[in-house]
Amino acid sequence: MFKIVRREEMAEGTVILNEIEAPLIAKKAKPGQFIILKANEEGERIPLTMAETNPEKGTVTIIYMVVGKSTALFRDMKVGDVFQDVIGPLGKATHIEKVGKVICVGGGTGVAVLHPITRALKEIGNDVTCIIGARNKSLLILEEQMKAASNDLRICTDDGSYGHHGFVTEVMKEVLQQGDVKLVVGIGPVPMMKAVSNITKEFNVPTMVSLNPIMVDGTGMCGGCRVSVGGETKFACVDGPEFDGHLVDYDELIMRLRAYQEEEKKCHSDYCT
Ligand code: FES
Repeated sequence: MFKIVRREEMAEGTVILNEIEAPLIAKKAKPGQFIILKANEEGERIPLTMAETNPEKGTVTIIYMVVGKSTALFRDMKVGDVFQDVIGPLGKATHIEKVGKVICVGGGTGVAVLHPITRALKEIGNDVTCIIGARNKSLLILEEQMKAASNDLRICTDDGSYGHHGFVTEVMKEVLQQGDVKLVVGIGPVPMMKAVSNITKEFNVPTMVSLNPIMVDGTGMCGGCRVSVGGETKFACVDGPEFDGHLVDYDELIMRLRAYQEEEKKCHSDYCT
């Protein structure tokens, strides 16, 4: 169980894909749900939303950016290596409904989370415009998959090395101005989700975001993942990870995500040296 059966280095080797044997999770998981993984006995518990599940093969796929010691440990595992623990599926599945015109906006590794949601929204009959972005062309992931999963794919890079030169929010605004958009799904770095939500608020278009706070148990008991949504405290692991983007307190989320930044940096540099 939990053996790595496929490993790919994407985006300059900073984004890693692992397909992992987890037949029970693969059978039950739905788009939007996440798993918690531990590399070894002493390892940190890392929550990651599944990019793909294959119930026939009994596997789940995660795509993550190497940002600290734990993800560096994951990166260094090879095909045939085994994760100590994989727990899931956790969290609520995405509410998939036919509403008409939908925009799916993804940034960085958020694109991996967005992929199964985009596909499910299209499969049910929505007209899905997908806008994905990265800092530069080599950091862009899943272009072909997102093309297949949507009706119209737009690409943006911050440095203009591919597609629109600028942010996903600029292209999203143009599509919103054409009118008739019934739903926006935004998944990516917190500042991106905040910017997406601020714009869609002006257009009065319902917006769903997927949050990634620090998590410990993933079952609603520790309170580590608490976020403020519409003035209420919610636990992202059981009440989310998806929430109404117009109600999320993004500044508080950013502050809480930075709480252990110094310790994380030190751990990572100790691991690398
Ligand atoms: Fe502990 Fe959500 S991770 S309550």
